[in-house]
Amino acid sequence: MPVLPIVVSGHPALHQPAHAIKESTPDVRQLVSDMTETMHEAPGVGLAAPQVGVSLQVFVWYFDDGEHQHQGHVINPRLSVSGWPRHLLWGEPDEEGCLSVPGLRSPLARYPRARLTGTDLEGKRVDVLAEGWLARIFQHEYDHVRGILYVDRLNNRRRRRLWAEAHTAGLGTTLTSWTPGVDGEEGDFAPGHDSADA
Ligand code: NI
Repeated sequence: MPVLPIVVSGHPALHQPAHAIKESTPDVRQLVSDMTETMHEAPGVGLAAPQVGVSLQVFVWYFDDGEHQHQGHVINPRLSVSGWPRHLLWGEPDEEGCLSVPGLRSPLARYPRARLTGTDLEGKRVDVLAEGWLARIFQHEYDHVRGILYVDRLNNRRRRRLWAEAHTAGLGTTLTSWTPGVDGEEGDFAPGHDSADA
């Protein structure tokens, strides 16, 4: 079960809608297994197939909220969101980061609740109601399978600032991929940040 290289913003798979999975083949099972290992090694709270350069609609997640460990995978996901994005009520939203934009973070408003549906490797229905950080993780990963990075959702001011930092860090130019465990941890790209990125 190898740890896979994570591709960085600029890779085509990250910027186009991924293909639906027709069948749970041994290759798909291996992919989910490898993605899970890669996510843990990063360490991250979620990882979508386009982040390892594979344009397929599948993602994995692992999040410990202090009381429960939430983990799983979903094939051909659908997501419905509800509630009011936090910034509308309380000002500055929480920060978000991405393993494909390593080391950088920015505040981004997300919906407080999300319902994730799809299937698992056995063909069984996945149906998860999520709140808070897990809902954020699902929105982030669901975006990945549609070719959207959280950076794309930032307002102009925040996006310009983030791309300036990304340019300085050589993301997408000198750094086009990184392998957790080989090139270190995601936190190494930005000392001082905790690693809760996806
Ligand atoms: Ni991400």
